[in-house]
Amino acid sequence: MKQKEKYIVANWKMNNDFSDIPVFVKYLKKYAKNQDNLVVCVPSVMIKTFAEESKKTLVETGAQNCYFKDKGAFTGEISPNMVKSAGATYVIIGHSERRQIFGETNELINRKISACLTVGLKVIFCVGETLEEKSKYKSVLKKQLLEGLTAINDLSNVIVAYEPVWAIGTGKVATTADIEKVHLYIKDTVKENMGVDVPVLYGGSVKPLNSTEILALDSVDGVLIGGASLKAEDFVKIAESRG
Ligand code: 13P
Repeated sequence: MKQKEKYIVANWKMNNDFSDIPVFVKYLKKYAKNQDNLVVCVPSVMIKTFAEESKKTLVETGAQNCYFKDKGAFTGEISPNMVKSAGATYVIIGHSERRQIFGETNELINRKISACLTVGLKVIFCVGETLEEKSKYKSVLKKQLLEGLTAINDLSNVIVAYEPVWAIGTGKVATTADIEKVHLYIKDTVKENMGVDVPVLYGGSVKPLNSTEILALDSVDGVLIGGASLKAEDFVKIAESRG
């Protein structure tokens, strides 16, 4: 993937507020006018506002989760169509916080991915090993990938995000050698089993200080950023570090 086209994806998680949206978008309008492939995944109640505010920019809006059912008695959930009609084009599925805090299984994640692709959303599918699983990362990631992508025949709207759980919010970023090694393993596993190439993003303590070297890696097709995506200044600095 061309350096300048690598994905820069913000995951606000449960942070920022409605009042931050115009400030954030105004900064992007001023300083990131020509930057492509920028996505901001906001809390679901903010999707519509963020999408409307950023309408005349190249920035796309994403959700951080959604359910796989179309509609019905699922109190507290939102459907892929709701996410889409609110103005999102991307959705993160299978984030480690969803897996660990909310008990999401590979099977549930698979159903969510499938439902989101059906309505035309682009899916950022997260995988990653915990610290305890680090020595057996290959089997952990292979299981997450194959079970998460079961029976999904068209992967053209799927982007994988590799987020080692031990690197999320800890300031402990994986070494570039480790990132390269694991990204190649993910790409090879998907290619061998599904016959296609998928883009792979890296996530876990990405900051303006380390993004240049991470984004320079051939096997890295972009980054998924938590903490450093909350302020537009840092987000733009990371986008600019694509060179
Ligand atoms: P941090 O960048 O805060 O480590 O979070 C990474 C992440 O979980 C993005 O989805």
